Amino acid sequence: MACHILLFALLALASSRVMASDPSQLQDFCLLPLDAVLVNGFVCKPPMHVTADDFFFSGHDMPGNTSNQLGSKVTQVNVNQIAGLNTLGISLARIDYAPYGLNPPHTHPRATEILTVLEGTLYVGFVTTNTNNGNLLFTKMFKKGDVFVFPEGLIHFQFNYGPTPAVAVAALSSQNPGVITIANAVFGSNPLISDAVLAKAFQVGKDTIKYLQAQFWVDNN
Ligand SMILES: *[C@@H]1O[C@H](CO)[C@@H](O)[C@H](O)[C@H]1NC(C)=O
Repeated sequence: MACHILLFALLALASSRVMASDPSQLQDFCLLPLDAVLVNGFVCKPPMHVTADDFFFSGHDMPGNTSNQLGSKVTQVNVNQIAGLNTLGISLARIDYAPYGLNPPHTHPRATEILTVLEGTLYVGFVTTNTNNGNLLFTKMFKKGDVFVFPEGLIHFQFNYGPTPAVAVAALSSQNPGVITIANAVFGSNPLISDAVLAKAFQVGKDTIKYLQAQFWVDNN
């Protein structure tokens, strides 16, 4: 009997370990200085010095400047704008789109995103990780009042399908979601990725890679 109880306890312990998820990473990397105690990459402010303004941001009604090659602008409100978001696992973004503007394919390595359109019509989509059936694309024509979810880490985009400006608001499940704009990261890294590597990866000639690397990859964030 005691043996059964021990076995049961061991099984319970094992299953609880299986169910425990990876701790979320809140920065790309963290080299700790030897003289500071950090929580999720930030030093904590003493509570008696905290004020309401540490949880406050103003100006999210202001349209972002979409005068760039993409015709879009992301205005982020994360732990860099609101210190009080530290360790809370949530943030916000406003996205403005010029007519036919694009928020280009990108990922948030640390966050799921839920997006709603306040004005205009967007064509939105995301692509799954590699599966037996390839990378599956899920898209939606998306109008004022609609809500769409982009699962954590997956490549996604939004395109303003209309002749008028569009506005969307996104909530993200990280205080610091991070953004990897695919074209910028692949063709506009500093220094550039070897054209031999990219020519092989994309199955094109080095001239095509050199052409792409010569473009200006605007960051709309
Ligand atoms: C918007 O950005 C463009 C390009 O950087 C700049 O020329 C223009 O002055 C900006 N407009 C405003 C209102 O800030």
